[in-house]
Amino acid sequence: MNMETVSVALGARAYDIVIGDGVLAEAGAHIRPHLARPRTVIVTDANLEKGPLAALTRSLAAAGIAAPAVVVPPGEGNKSFAGLEKLIDALILHKVERRDVIIALGGGVVGDLTGFAAAILRRGVGFIQVPTTLLAQVDSSVGGKTGINTGEGKNLVGAFHQPRLVLADVAQLDSLPAREMRAGYAEVVKYALLGDAGFFDWLEANGAKVLAGNRAAQVYAVATSCRHKARIVAADEREEGQRALLNLGHTFGHALEAATGFGARLLHGEAVAIGMVLAFELSAKLGLCAEGEAARVRRHLAALSLPVGVADIPGPRLDPDVLIRHMQQDKKVADGRLTFVLTKGIGRAFLKNDVPAAAVSALLEGAVAA
Ligand SMILES: NC(=O)c1ccc[n+]([C@@H]2O[C@H](COP(=O)([O-])OP(=O)(O)OC[C@H]3O[C@@H](n4cnc5c(N)ncnc54)[C@H](O)[C@@H]3O)[C@@H](O)[C@H]2O)c1
Ligand SMILES: [Zn+2]
Repeated sequence: MNMETVSVALGARAYDIVIGDGVLAEAGAHIRPHLARPRTVIVTDANLEKGPLAALTRSLAAAGIAAPAVVVPPGEGNKSFAGLEKLIDALILHKVERRDVIIALGGGVVGDLTGFAAAILRRGVGFIQVPTTLLAQVDSSVGGKTGINTGEGKNLVGAFHQPRLVLADVAQLDSLPAREMRAGYAEVVKYALLGDAGFFDWLEANGAKVLAGNRAAQVYAVATSCRHKARIVAADEREEGQRALLNLGHTFGHALEAATGFGARLLHGEAVAIGMVLAFELSAKLGLCAEGEAARVRRHLAALSLPVGVADIPGPRLDPDVLIRHMQQDKKVADGRLTFVLTKGIGRAFLKNDVPAAAVSALLEGAVAA
């Protein structure tokens, strides 16, 4: 089988990410060594009941593992205190014990919610991530950030809780809507832009294959992305420094998501695509990187039908002042100062905490009017 394993070197909390074409069918064999007894609970969302849940349950049963499922409603709305309470109650009814390991099967919503439930249930049980969206396979399932949203904003409540194993089956991506696939792809491009120019060259040549369902290209893209995330997380598990590089495109992106209501008008990955272009354009404006680099990033994302400018967002025109205000409320603000991930070119991102507000305003005014 076409399979790659990436290790996350976190000492006592180290774990493997197994990426492959068809690994779900072998999940039982991968998961069994992580269980103290042949019993687990699978948490998934209603969209995944027929395909992935059936396949995972079958594979666990073949390995002699009892695995009842808790099926939660799909969607970001369930990543909430109310959703958490229901999930915790269900896990307790399933008699999950302190030494048990539960499984999150789904996208980032299921992964974040289940991971947080695992972090606090009986003061912490183990969990395994089986991500089924491209975004979850390359980003949210790795690194141990778990949590829920509150009425005030996204991911405001949570815990660092590393999974024991991540099993990413690229075959599951076949059923993912094309738009979700493209949104996840933006995070793949992020890894190339922040630290791997050679990977960007590869994506320019092969990105369309990743989106079109070429399994070998998908395994390579997911594994390369995970290798970058694993390296950064191992060096800075709790985001005290370099892990913030993973926020390339996200300060602008979050402001765009907030201004569009965190909904179907603009998906997270789409916001990140626009945000990365803005970060490159801001870097070029500040004389930090060549204009041609920003143009190259824009060209690649646009070639794969991702939005690349604020003007590409459907609906009423956005107000640059509102965007600035959202940026100032970003979690990454420390002492009122915005830290931006800027760049010296493709593969050369760095953190900068003294970006002049006027330059950001000017850029956004231009972007909104474009
Ligand atoms: N923890 C982290 O480090 C981290 C990082 C990035 C994003 N996130 C979080 O991840 C979430 C977004 O994750 P997402 O983009 O995976 O969204 P999601 O979990 O909502 O999944 C998107 C949709 O696709 C469906 N789906 C999932 N897998 C499918 C498949 N194989 N085939 C068909 N449909 C499928 C889901 O049911 C859902 O409707 C956000 O809540 C975000 O905050 C967390
Ligand atoms: Zn992201």
